[in-house]
Amino acid sequence: MSTSLDADSCAAAQAHPNIALIKYWGKRDLPLNLPVVGSLSITLDTLWTRTSVRFGNDLLTDRLSLNGREDAKQLRKVSACLDLLRARAGTEARAEVVSHNNFPTGAGLASSASGFAALVVAADAALGLGLPQGTLSEFARRGSGSASRSIFGGYVEWALGERPDGEDSVARPILDAQAWPLRVAVAITSTAEKAIGSTEGMNRTADTSPYQRAWIDTQEADLAEARAAIVARDFERLADISEFSCLKMHALAMAAKPGLLYWNAATMAAMHAVRALRASGVPVFFTIDAGPQVKAICLPSAAVQVAAALREVPGVLKVLETGLGGPAKLIPVTEAEAA
Ligand code: DP6
Repeated sequence: MSTSLDADSCAAAQAHPNIALIKYWGKRDLPLNLPVVGSLSITLDTLWTRTSVRFGNDLLTDRLSLNGREDAKQLRKVSACLDLLRARAGTEARAEVVSHNNFPTGAGLASSASGFAALVVAADAALGLGLPQGTLSEFARRGSGSASRSIFGGYVEWALGERPDGEDSVARPILDAQAWPLRVAVAITSTAEKAIGSTEGMNRTADTSPYQRAWIDTQEADLAEARAAIVARDFERLADISEFSCLKMHALAMAAKPGLLYWNAATMAAMHAVRALRASGVPVFFTIDAGPQVKAICLPSAAVQVAAALREVPGVLKVLETGLGGPAKLIPVTEAEAA
């Protein structure tokens, strides 16, 4: 049964992107967006997506404005994600979604993670559902896998899960940001949208990379190692396992046909710069997602030095500095609209 809404119902939310230290790459179920591996991430602080959602009986279709522009490409996924919340609320009311990022969209900076996390939190409130965070994580996952993790702050693990319906493949927080406040410098080496998105890249990898089986078989050990490093606040241990997972994911994807090459020359130079810093005793490591940006994670004492070193790397356009951030949260609609 579908009910119409009494009046316009509107809410807004802010969510932060996250960076995987133990990577998600590969899907075992496309419609439910279930992963082939569990993953573990840190949620960032100063980067954000702010999204307002207004459901209205006057709207004939869903509408999406992303960074001030209508976005037809993302609208289909946004509508499908909103359908999950509409089904829970028993309404078919369409929605007007206005979203802003304060960082480059679609360039390997996890804009889909913060985007879908902010979307489900805002839509849940606009519809008065009050769903538990696990369900919000599940719905965000349906929009984009990594978004399941951006519901939470600090250190977060997204479980592989076992159930065919995917209800147990949700994220959970494993440590607060304040409990181990690492810093992150993001070296932007290109602001162009990536040529091959994560979904397409993962599917090509699963279909053609001879390393797919090994990737799946070795992930659980990496997750256990990262969890142990985080619990012990052992930076060197976390650095080793995180670089290993990053390089393993890229090696897996490079071995697809045709091979996926997300790096440019500056990406490579920044990786070497981070390795050189670490060799000289600076507590820092790198990770890279499906794009050319290099994220350098370090202890707070090294943050200024790491950012300065990355700024010197040829081809690095800009360095963003951030700490670890909190969970997705509701914000005033006026704040989202002012973004
Ligand atoms: C390399 O979450 O963007 O950043 O589920 O297809 O939307 P979809 O993929 P997405 O992939 C992220 C891949 C990654 C690694 C990670 O964040 O774990």
